[in-house]
Amino acid sequence: MKLGIEIGTITEAKADAIVVNLFEGVKKPGGGTGAVDKALDGAISEELSKGKQFSGKLGDTLVLPTYGKLPARYVVVVGLGKSADSNSRALRRASAAAVRACQKLKVKSVATILHGAGTGGVALETAARLLAEGSLLGAYKFMLRKSAQKEDESPKNPINTVTVYETDKTKKAALQKGLDIGITIAQAVCQARDWVFDSANNITPSFLAGEAQKIAKSGTVTCKILDKAELEKLGMGSFLSVAKGSVEPPKLIHLTYKPTGKAKKKVALVGKGITFDSGGLSLKPATAMELMKMDMSGAAAVINTMKAIAEMGNLDVEVHAIAPCCENMPNGNANKPGDIVTAMNGKTIEINNTDAEGRLILCDALVYAQEKIKPDEIIDLATLTGACIVALGKEASGIMGTSDKLSEGVRKAGDIAGERYWPLPLYDEFKEMLKSDVADVINAGSKGQAGSSAGGIFLKDFVKDGQAWVHLDIAGPAWTDRDVPEVPKGATGVGVRTLLYYLYGFKELT
Ligand code: BES
Ligand code: ZN
Ligand code: ZN
Repeated sequence: MKLGIEIGTITEAKADAIVVNLFEGVKKPGGGTGAVDKALDGAISEELSKGKQFSGKLGDTLVLPTYGKLPARYVVVVGLGKSADSNSRALRRASAAAVRACQKLKVKSVATILHGAGTGGVALETAARLLAEGSLLGAYKFMLRKSAQKEDESPKNPINTVTVYETDKTKKAALQKGLDIGITIAQAVCQARDWVFDSANNITPSFLAGEAQKIAKSGTVTCKILDKAELEKLGMGSFLSVAKGSVEPPKLIHLTYKPTGKAKKKVALVGKGITFDSGGLSLKPATAMELMKMDMSGAAAVINTMKAIAEMGNLDVEVHAIAPCCENMPNGNANKPGDIVTAMNGKTIEINNTDAEGRLILCDALVYAQEKIKPDEIIDLATLTGACIVALGKEASGIMGTSDKLSEGVRKAGDIAGERYWPLPLYDEFKEMLKSDVADVINAGSKGQAGSSAGGIFLKDFVKDGQAWVHLDIAGPAWTDRDVPEVPKGATGVGVRTLLYYLYGFKELT
């Protein structure tokens, strides 16, 4: 799907469908929507006064055939919700809902007005960015592994073009800039979705390493892949203990973006890259294992964040993405419950449960980040605990860490980006749960008690005093069974938008 700009009025657009919008409760549409209403002899107004179906609720759509009154065949009116509640989330969602309604009409070309601009002083660039984000995120479908489509199944990206109509040509540059940023962000999210959707036999640690190297080809980002021998040299005994239960070789991916000028700060992004989590010898039951190809969602998020940064540049922050990647499998070489391993910082870990493997690979990655990068801030993303899904469901990720300022910054960025985080505590008292009789720490705490916090507390043990660090447990939102306009069912690519919004400082609408 291509996004473009045309200078002209929406009523003249020669697309198959045109999209206009409406705030909830408005009875007499104005602007582009008003012009379309007039061309349709008041069909929209009539529907608003007599119909019960459509009132402009956020994400609702009203489809009207034009019967030759306009060059386009259909008009799609999308609800923006209450104007007082209008925010980034709403504009992104409206664009996604509109594109989805157009997909159902099986049209090829769409013309749209810019949602939100003109009302409430939304900056053009922001409005265009949100339109691009919503359109591409909403149109997404995982199609990589489908062979030839049947006629009646919707083909890959049936909509070829979405064109924004704007009458004032002086606005074109700002619009184009917003569209370009939105496209880059959405494509990064969609690539993360593709990797999480795709199967573990395809998305191996070696595959991810190859993809990371491709990102580095752009020149602004560099890539280092550490393989088994180098990880041994560094003493990553905890990460390697998980990897050795599989025939797939482990990879530690390290991507770096350095600004051309002086960096304002250094941020390390760490992502859990378990490309398949069988549980190891503490084997998962079959149903719990079914979806465990998604256990590399954290790695997908941090690597694709770098893909977007490589494309956009223009960032005065030094950013590192570190993704420890391996499988968690139960072969003859695998970790055995009770095994004791030594992490890169010399700490010994008793592995009472081989299924709590995420923390075992992340602790070495956290030590690596601190020793090799000395970052001002560390943000880790991991599908770490089932307990987080029990606590927060699919709507929010858990957020915990050592710096209120960093946590609040990430949480706020997530809110604007349309991804929710809810704080969970890291009480010192929780350390009791991870006491080992034989080693410095045990990897799995007391069953059934504060499981997500226990994961966080384990990781915190590998974070030096004074280091700003935040841990995002994305186990719930990484995969959704609900269908939200901008987040279709399945892999969500969660984290990419939050990280980019945080790093670039994209602000809420004013
Ligand atoms: N990858 C899982 C967590 C998970 C579960 C992610 C469901 C997404 C959906 C993780 O490695 C795991 O198995 N955690 C254990 C920890 C326990 C043994 C302390 C869990 O949540 O049961
Ligand atoms: Zn596990
Ligand atoms: Zn796992």
